[in-house]
Amino acid sequence: MKDIELSSIADVLANVIKTRRTIRRFKKDVKVPKEVIERILDIARWSPSGSNAQEWRFIAIMDERLLRAMKMFSPGWLGEAPAAIVACADKDWSYRVAGVLGRDKMYLIDVGIVVQTIALLAHAMGLGTNIIMSFSQEAISELLNVPHNWEIVVIIAIGYPDEEPKPPPRMSLSELVIWR
Ligand SMILES: Cc1cc2nc3c(=O)[nH]c(=O)nc-3n(C[C@H](O)[C@H](O)[C@H](O)COP(=O)(O)O)c2cc1C
Repeated sequence: MKDIELSSIADVLANVIKTRRTIRRFKKDVKVPKEVIERILDIARWSPSGSNAQEWRFIAIMDERLLRAMKMFSPGWLGEAPAAIVACADKDWSYRVAGVLGRDKMYLIDVGIVVQTIALLAHAMGLGTNIIMSFSQEAISELLNVPHNWEIVVIIAIGYPDEEPKPPPRMSLSELVIWR
């Protein structure tokens, strides 16, 4: 992250949110320490979730061979990454806590929120992430021996950035907001 004079927590947060970019090229041979991933996940579990269900589940992948195999089944995964976090939802758990709404809808929002928390924390710690949704659910589940009641929601490729992508354009506020 670039050094910017920041005067308040809101400014710091705004800076982290605005300067996070999807990173598709990572420094080769620079490993992400296990402790860093553990710290990110330990903070991210404080994200909000519907009915406080916390149905998110994670598989942290550091093994090069597994990462290479995962990439083969993930057309949306561009470039290599030294680590990945597979963000899943325990659908049985969300059903038990929040019924049909939890199982069919809320879990996607809950996992989406925790994934954004992970991406922002990673960025604040000097790491880059790519949230990948284009992958084969069946192939990755089999490869990683994912429990049958977990759905893989996204794969987060993570590593130290080797590029500084330009920010893709954002729609203007007036296109997004209706005031009443
Ligand atoms: C739900 C979701 C799925 C995505 N899937 C992919 C993907 O499969 N492959 C990829 O390269 N990027 C993927 N992205 C990254 C988006 O393309 C990226 O966030 C968007 O272009 C905005 O760029 P920025 O993240 O740098 O602001 C995904 C992002 C989200 C939130």
